[in-house]
Amino acid sequence: MTHRRKTRKREFYYREAIREGYRSRSSYKLKQLHEKFDIFKVGNLVLDVGAAPGGWSQVASMYVQPAGRVYAIDIDYMDPIEKVIAIQGDMSDPETRKRLKTIIGESVDVIISDISPKITGNWSTDHARQIFLTEQALRLCVAGLLKRGGKFVCKLFMGDLHEDFIKNLKKLFTVVYTYKPKASRKGSAEFYVVAKGFTKGPIKWKKMQEQTGEKK
Ligand SMILES: C[S@@+](CC[C@H](N)C(=O)[O-])C[C@H]1O[C@@H](n2cnc3c(N)ncnc32)[C@H](O)[C@@H]1O
Repeated sequence: MTHRRKTRKREFYYREAIREGYRSRSSYKLKQLHEKFDIFKVGNLVLDVGAAPGGWSQVASMYVQPAGRVYAIDIDYMDPIEKVIAIQGDMSDPETRKRLKTIIGESVDVIISDISPKITGNWSTDHARQIFLTEQALRLCVAGLLKRGGKFVCKLFMGDLHEDFIKNLKKLFTVVYTYKPKASRKGSAEFYVVAKGFTKGPIKWKKMQEQTGEKK
């Protein structure tokens, strides 16, 4: 894609987001993922990890209303969204994870993660940090926050570590799809994973690492 076409595409989703009242262009990535993989059902409980400024939470909330609920966590403050319960905290911190479990109080149907570290420009660092953060989101699934049979949707930065991460997901979910929605820039190294049919109940992270063969 030429630079001009890339810019036009970015501008298109930017204008659409303003027109439709979404807080981010990323909203369209989640919409396109849902259209392809049928992620949300009315009445679902959803946890949005790395949620600010809130575009994904807005989209998820729209799909699960009127009976569903969205919880959103971010290290940064997020302006309130109607019917979305926002929690501020570092989700890789065990204390925050405990707080999250207490606030939610039950397991959810879908965990979505668009989490991303602050970009340094050093690709291997950014990639490793992004995978680490996404692992922390997966850790929430295995810690009992995701229902058996539930779905996990996450962004990944392409690099040496993403294949192992997907291999591990395949041991925890019945089906795992990878996809690059149209709203994601062609040249960008991000792509998305939709994992369905969580096969585990609550399980200790260490035990999960043993089971999936993770060394860390
Ligand atoms: C790409 S943005 C998410 C955009 C969002 N999906 C939307 O549509 O508005 C990634 C987010 O991950 C958050 N994040 C990064 N590290 C985090 C951490 N340790 N705990 C919680 N959130 C984190 C960032 O603050 C940032 O808001």
